Amino acid sequence: MPCTAPARGPADDTARPVTREGHYPGAVTRTPVVVLISGTGSNLAALLAASGQEQCPYEVVGVIADREAAGLAHAREAGIPSQVVALGDHPDRAAWDRALADAVAAHAPQLVVLAGFMKLVGPPLLESFGGRIINTHPALLPSFPGAHGVRDALAHGVKVTGCSVIEVDAGVDTGRILAQRAVDVLEEDTEDALHERIKAVEQPLLVEVVRRLTAAR
Ligand code: GRF
Repeated sequence: MPCTAPARGPADDTARPVTREGHYPGAVTRTPVVVLISGTGSNLAALLAASGQEQCPYEVVGVIADREAAGLAHAREAGIPSQVVALGDHPDRAAWDRALADAVAAHAPQLVVLAGFMKLVGPPLLESFGGRIINTHPALLPSFPGAHGVRDALAHGVKVTGCSVIEVDAGVDTGRILAQRAVDVLEEDTEDALHERIKAVEQPLLVEVVRRLTAAR
């Protein structure tokens, strides 16, 4: 079901058809968001589902992965342009950083969402979209940053962990915290079991933050 376009600010220059090959096929009438993934795209799926609801202030106009991620299927099913920008296809990290920034910029998003994207973003993306990139992390930052937030929290023996949605800066999960939710750790928890319960609260939290940020633009 199409969403009703919200009132938007002066940056609203995106309500025009994007017809170039590989770009969003329709008329972009809501705040355009690009989502970056590496895995199964559980958070991407939640963002796509919510974007189909009435009064949703955003639409996902592109999905980019750093590998042949299973989650790209969600974009294909939704008819949203998707693309792989793999580090291995570029001569060095700096070239990949530039290619990633170019791929994102081609969609002209107002917000970039890292949703299970397992790479640090480099200076080109930060320079182009500074303050407009958010990340979701499966731990209560500033505790347990990095690629193994669930495993590290479990190994430390914490009784409560959770998830954080943050602004992305040049550090590893060091950006401003936008929202958090707590999840109890159970005696019998494995990393996978705990991560699944975290994902269950992480998805609605991410959707809530993306809605809030895009409605305000
Ligand atoms: C999320 O918990 C995210 O915070 C973490 O990876 C999970 C998403 O992975 N970095 P996937 O896309 O569902 O595989």
